Amino acid sequence: MPLPALTPLAASLPETVPFIGPETVERTRGIRFRARLGANESSFGPSPAVIAAIAAAAPESWKYCDPEVFDLRQSLARHHGVGPDEVSVGEGIDGLLGHCIRLFAAPGDVVVSSIGAYPTFNYHVAGFGARLHAVPYHDDREDLDALLAAVRETNAKIVYLANPDNPMGTWWDADAVTAFANALPETTLLLLDEAYGEFAPPGTMPPIDTGQGNVLRLRTFSKAYGLAGLRCGYAIGAAPMIDAFNRVRNHFGVASIAQAAALAALADQDYLASVVTMTAAARERIETMARANGLIPLPSATNFVTIDCGADGPFAQRILDALAGLGVFIRKPMVPRLDRCIRITAGTDAMLDVLEAALPEVLALAPR
Ligand SMILES: Cc1ncc(COP(=O)(O)O)c(C=O)c1O
Repeated sequence: MPLPALTPLAASLPETVPFIGPETVERTRGIRFRARLGANESSFGPSPAVIAAIAAAAPESWKYCDPEVFDLRQSLARHHGVGPDEVSVGEGIDGLLGHCIRLFAAPGDVVVSSIGAYPTFNYHVAGFGARLHAVPYHDDREDLDALLAAVRETNAKIVYLANPDNPMGTWWDADAVTAFANALPETTLLLLDEAYGEFAPPGTMPPIDTGQGNVLRLRTFSKAYGLAGLRCGYAIGAAPMIDAFNRVRNHFGVASIAQAAALAALADQDYLASVVTMTAAARERIETMARANGLIPLPSATNFVTIDCGADGPFAQRILDALAGLGVFIRKPMVPRLDRCIRITAGTDAMLDVLEAALPEVLALAPR
């Protein structure tokens, strides 16, 4: 039976799903993870006030959500000192990245990123037919000079920078990011992904300036606010750019429970501060554990620690596989040079206890 033809663009995309969740690994390997330390979620969970807000919103789920996300946008605007018309809310940064490509890069247009950087950006670039030009990391950091040179050379429509970065956990300070933004051509949009910004040292995130027309700041409730499963993130930028999201976004995409949860999360800044403190302590524990096992933790401004395993990619992969066999879910960078590392999310003490027991066992068995 003939099937409806895919569009040429869709037909050209890979058939394989690029995002393999820990649940898939559990199903395919027939294992159960005891320590979920791979997806950079916050295992400290959301604030109790958020859980109460979710429970209160649940009986109202028969209603469609507010398509304007009015209350949350008002609250985010107050929180960041911008106008409500300078904030758009979407289904996590992942969803917003798709809208950004669709809005600002036509099929065939060049966009710039780093080789091995957060892959969802590339996924949407391919999905909307834009062309990716990626530059290598330098010293395990995104290379601002190389990104800028690539933008100039290719006349790129968009440049993507995650600061702090995933998968390496490294970061640039606000002055460096501001200098980078100022040096860009006005016609190039900077997508500044600050998913991990709340964990970063003071002086990492530049002050928000919506007067800078070619910069969009992307933030999320998935990380420090502990709401990865609810899918809620937001973009801040100049009002005309933010208004453009209304042309393409899924207007009923941010569920009413997610809106209520995000509103309560934003209101509980004390809890956020406590998560940042607990995350820093967990990070330190992972760093100590790595050193005790002869591995080298990289500096991190995120909720994970990237660890140089001191050999090649296959060696790091063997560690990852063996940890999975002992019930520990972690991830690793995949491109050469970066792939010598594994990446471990800051988890609860109970999860890190499991890791602490498993790591020496795995290293004793993994051949270099
Ligand atoms: C750099 C970066 N951006 C965005 C995301 C995803 O954010 P969200 O859950 O808001 O889609 C992640 C998640 O790992 C990330 O590492």
